[in-house]
Amino acid sequence: MKRFENKNVIVTGAAAGVGQQIALQYATEGAFVVLVDLRKPEETMELIKNANGKSDFVICDISDENQIKAMAVAVGEKCNGKVDVLVNNAGFNGKANLIKDMNLSDWNYTLSVNLTGTMLVSREIIPFLINNKSGAIVNVASNVGKRGLPYRSDYVCSKWALLGLTQTLALELVDEKIRVNAVCPGPIDGDRVEELVKMHAEVEGQSVEQMHKAWEDVPMKRFIDPQEVTNVILFLSSNDSSAMTGQALNITGGMLMN
Ligand SMILES: NC(=O)c1ccc[n+]([C@@H]2O[C@H](COP(=O)([O-])OP(=O)(O)OC[C@H]3O[C@@H](n4cnc5c(N)ncnc54)[C@H](O)[C@@H]3O)[C@@H](O)[C@H]2O)c1
Repeated sequence: MKRFENKNVIVTGAAAGVGQQIALQYATEGAFVVLVDLRKPEETMELIKNANGKSDFVICDISDENQIKAMAVAVGEKCNGKVDVLVNNAGFNGKANLIKDMNLSDWNYTLSVNLTGTMLVSREIIPFLINNKSGAIVNVASNVGKRGLPYRSDYVCSKWALLGLTQTLALELVDEKIRVNAVCPGPIDGDRVEELVKMHAEVEGQSVEQMHKAWEDVPMKRFIDPQEVTNVILFLSSNDSSAMTGQALNITGGMLMN
C-alpha cells in the first residue's frame, strides 16, 4: 500500500513552483490531492494525471476571506468532509524596500497572503481535519523565518510570524491528534529564486552573478532542489514523524543550524 493511499491532501499554491512538486508527490504516493491556487493549476493536474494520480482543484485567492470560505465549502464536498493533510505553501515574495521607504499597503498585502491567508485557510480546513480524528498541517515558512534580510521586512516578518502560528496551532490541536509543523527552506532552484536574485542585485547595486554567488554561499554551496523540500514535507505529514509537532525544520544546506 502506498504511503498516502486513501488520504485527502490539500495543497495551496499548487499551480507552480514547489507547490506543484509537493502535490505531484502526494498524488504519486496515493493521495487524492485538492490543488488550491489563484489560477487554474492545469500543468499540475496534467502531471498528476500522467502519473495515474487523483486530483481536483479550487481557484482561490488566499488574501480574500470570502474566497477562502467558499474554497472550504468546495473542499468539504470534494473530500466528503474529511481532510488528512493541509500544506500551506502559497506565498508572496513582496517587493524590495528598506523599512524607511516601506509603503503600508505593500506591507499589509504580503502579510495578508503569507500570514493571515495561512491562518484563515487553516481555520476553515481544521474542522475537516478534526472530523478525520487525526492529521497534519505543514506550513511552508523560510530560512528568513529565523533571521533578518534587508529590503524584505514584510516577507521576513510574515515568515517569522508563521512559526509562531505553527507553535500555537500545534498546542491548540494536540488533543485532536493533529500535528502542526513548518519547514524553513533556503533558496530553492526555480523561476522564483532567479527573479528574487535579480531583484536583490538591482537594489543592492551588485551584478546578478555576484548576488547568485552570495546566496549560494552556504556550507553546501548550492540552492535547494524542490524535491528536497517536498521530501521533508511528506515526512512531516506521515507517521514517520509521529512524535513531532510545533517544529520548524531547516532545509538550507547548512545555512541555519538551529
Ligand atoms: N523559492 C524559494 O527560494 C523559497 C525559499 C523559501 C521559502 N519559499 C516559500 O515556498 C513557498 C512556495 O514558493 P515557490 O518558490 O514555489 O513560489 P512560486 O511563486 O513559484 O509559486 C507560488 C504559488 O502560489 C500561488 N499563489 C501566490 N499568491 C497566492 C494567493 N494569494 N492565493 C492563492 N495562491 C497564491 C501562485 O499562483 C503560485 O502557483 C512560498 O510560501 C515561499 O515563500 C520559497
